[in-house]
Amino acid sequence: MTRHEFLQAQRTENVPQGLSCAHPIFIKKAKGALITDMEEKEYIDFIGGIGVNNVGHCNEAVIEAIKDQIQKFLHPCFHAVMYEPYIELAKMLNEITPGTFPKRTMLSNSGAEAVENGIKIARHATGRTAVITFQHAFHGRTLLAMSLTSKVKPYKAGFGPFAPEVYRMPYAYCYRCSFGLRYPGCGIACAHHLSEFFETHVPAEQVAALIVEPIQGEGGFIVPPKEFLPILYRICKERGIVFIADEVQTGFGRTGRMFAAEHFDIAPDVLLMAKSIAGGLPLGAVTGREDLMNHPQTGGLGGTFSGNPVSCRAALAVLNQIQERHLLEKAREIGQQTMTRFLDFQKRFEVIGDVRGLGAMVGMELVTDRSTKEPAKAFTKELVERCREKGLLMISAGTHSNIIRTLMPLVITDQQLDKGLSILEESLFELEDSHS
Ligand SMILES: Cc1ncc(COP(=O)(O)O)c(C=O)c1O
Repeated sequence: MTRHEFLQAQRTENVPQGLSCAHPIFIKKAKGALITDMEEKEYIDFIGGIGVNNVGHCNEAVIEAIKDQIQKFLHPCFHAVMYEPYIELAKMLNEITPGTFPKRTMLSNSGAEAVENGIKIARHATGRTAVITFQHAFHGRTLLAMSLTSKVKPYKAGFGPFAPEVYRMPYAYCYRCSFGLRYPGCGIACAHHLSEFFETHVPAEQVAALIVEPIQGEGGFIVPPKEFLPILYRICKERGIVFIADEVQTGFGRTGRMFAAEHFDIAPDVLLMAKSIAGGLPLGAVTGREDLMNHPQTGGLGGTFSGNPVSCRAALAVLNQIQERHLLEKAREIGQQTMTRFLDFQKRFEVIGDVRGLGAMVGMELVTDRSTKEPAKAFTKELVERCREKGLLMISAGTHSNIIRTLMPLVITDQQLDKGLSILEESLFELEDSHS
């Protein structure tokens, strides 16, 4: 029995099946955009720990910061004894997030926890209860975050009852428009629908917050038209609704700007972060308008481990790395190369129904038939497996698991990127050939 087979058997025996895993491999080491498994096979990584490793696996500056911090102290708990890295990071996030208004930042352990806190703060500050979310949204797995999430299987089925006062709108999913319209002739009906929504679903005076991913991540890398978010934002402003941008997946340079909201010229009242914020250590953040953030009473926010000093030091190093290594420009270059190749694939492979993206967040939607747009779920799974066999790790997304998405570390070399894209191309070619 190989070590790998042993671990696989132990995993089955000791870990519940509820925890999914995209690839049946165990990692030995990782660096930059490369992962080596326990059998010494090397892979190009287009998953990046699901959007966590924008500055690369085992980034040296991040590791140095971690090493330095663990020799000083690990956990005094911010609620007991304060520490400088928390304050320094809060200050940085207040400065770099969109909006010139006064801000405050609180830290959490994960993206879901950032979501929970964002909603808590909005409810407290407005004295309202309802929250508007979107179809195909993903906000996490805790009760409220799961309730805000859209995809039923596997995220919600059997886990009810869900948190109350959650209302769901269609997102600007142009490839599968809920209104059967086409951009730009549609007049962005999906965004204007919010005004109608206050008549048909929930009165505006009852709505504390609208939470939206500027580009839907788990939902399938859905990029809305440029008008979508500004229209929602304006309507929220008119009705006193807190506009929360969930930038857990889009943040920290992924889209070629520090935050995706910047592409749409909006300054969210509250912005949620996690994933790539701390280079692989668990950390989340909620940054928002001072009047909202300061509303909850002392003791109402926080948690034992929230804003762990080691994670804070790692996050400060991540911010430095993004600047020093020009990773925003790099994200745009990666995005351009990937988009060009994906569009070329779309011309050659019938299975690719749609290609979309912003910066290095690029996706392709696979369909069995371009006219019916039937999701090619089985093909997508086979494609991910074929890529792995050839040395490329990818992960799918989408309500129907038929979208291929790119979350490679932004430090990926040109050669690695090219090789990864060529593996994808070869796999598409082989599979389409075998399916025809
Ligand atoms: C947009 C978005 N929000 C929230 C979350 C939840 O984050 P976490 O898994 O850290 O709880 C995710 C995770 O994929 C996400 O993509």
